[in-house]
Amino acid sequence: MRVLSGIQPSGALHLGNYFGMMSRMIKYQSNNELFCFIANYHALTTIPNRENLSSNTFSAACDFLALGLDPEKSTFWIQSDVPQVTELTWILSSQVGVGLMDRATSYKDKIAQGLSPNMGLYSYPILMAADILLFDSQVVPVGKDQKQHLEMARDIALKFNNNFGDTFLIPEPDISLETQLVPGIDGKKMSKSYNNTIPIFNSEKYIRKKVMKIITDNTDIDEPKDKDTPLFNLYSLFLNQEEKINLSNRYDGPGMRYGDIKKELFEKIMDYFQPYRVNRDKLLSDSDYVADILKYGAKKASKVADEVLDRVRSASGVKYI
Ligand code: ADP
Ligand code: TRP
Repeated sequence: MRVLSGIQPSGALHLGNYFGMMSRMIKYQSNNELFCFIANYHALTTIPNRENLSSNTFSAACDFLALGLDPEKSTFWIQSDVPQVTELTWILSSQVGVGLMDRATSYKDKIAQGLSPNMGLYSYPILMAADILLFDSQVVPVGKDQKQHLEMARDIALKFNNNFGDTFLIPEPDISLETQLVPGIDGKKMSKSYNNTIPIFNSEKYIRKKVMKIITDNTDIDEPKDKDTPLFNLYSLFLNQEEKINLSNRYDGPGMRYGDIKKELFEKIMDYFQPYRVNRDKLLSDSDYVADILKYGAKKASKVADEVLDRVRSASGVKYI
């Protein structure tokens, strides 16, 4: 099965990104054909700063590689290194009604947060559809917040196929139920834009500070505690079934302190990501090596992109002889 997903290089990776999308995606590489890319054209819609965009792009690539993405088993590239995607975006744009874009909730959210509404941000879902369709993707693992974008990609593909004959595969979303939404330290969805994240590669001190700030209630120490809460849910991400039952029993029983649970969670986070941190430091200090990997990935991705784009050019009449 061909599985594709991308992530914007828009800031420090957090537990929501990791459990919502990256770890699931990396697991796919063992028995599927994984296509994975860093969506820097998408990030350009909200990062109007050369230094930030380029350094975030490089470090996002290192993050993925450090977390176990294998550039031999998978196809891994930077979106702008396969610029065929912009041609497909244009061709698809001519098929997409303005009404469809007007319904995009993530665009509305971003405007509500105070971002200036540029055209790139508005047509973001079409670029995302192009990312998916350009590689004949069958399955697209994303977090729940990307569900509407996936539906749009499917609508766009169906519309094109209706107009021009079968050209695109219709992709299926893969939204994990278990980790649908990782909560942030304030209980809302963890997101860079809410400033409520627990990053995975920041300093130990910073991560400890964030964990200690996870919101809790003031239930008496000997009373049973509410488990539908951010601290319980975040801790559970690191536990197997048996350990979860154990934690659940501690929540039900007397004598449990939130402060102790937070300290344990902090240790879990540090232990879990320690080997990845070591990998990441090595990669960050060897940009030539990372550049070679990315070049190799872009070449592999380009080959598929060229084939699909040729099909699209023929189907749409852009290819004229
Ligand atoms: P952010 O909201 O921090 O800007 P992105 O929009 O860059 O995160 O998300 C990158 C990927 O991580 C997407 O597939 C998204 O669905 C997933 N993701 C982000 N935050 C969460 C979360 N809190 N829970 C689950 N998945 C998430
Ligand atoms: N919009 C996605 C996000 O913010 C990133 C993305 C861009 C993507 N193109 C994609 C995800 C194609 C899956 C498939 O998380």
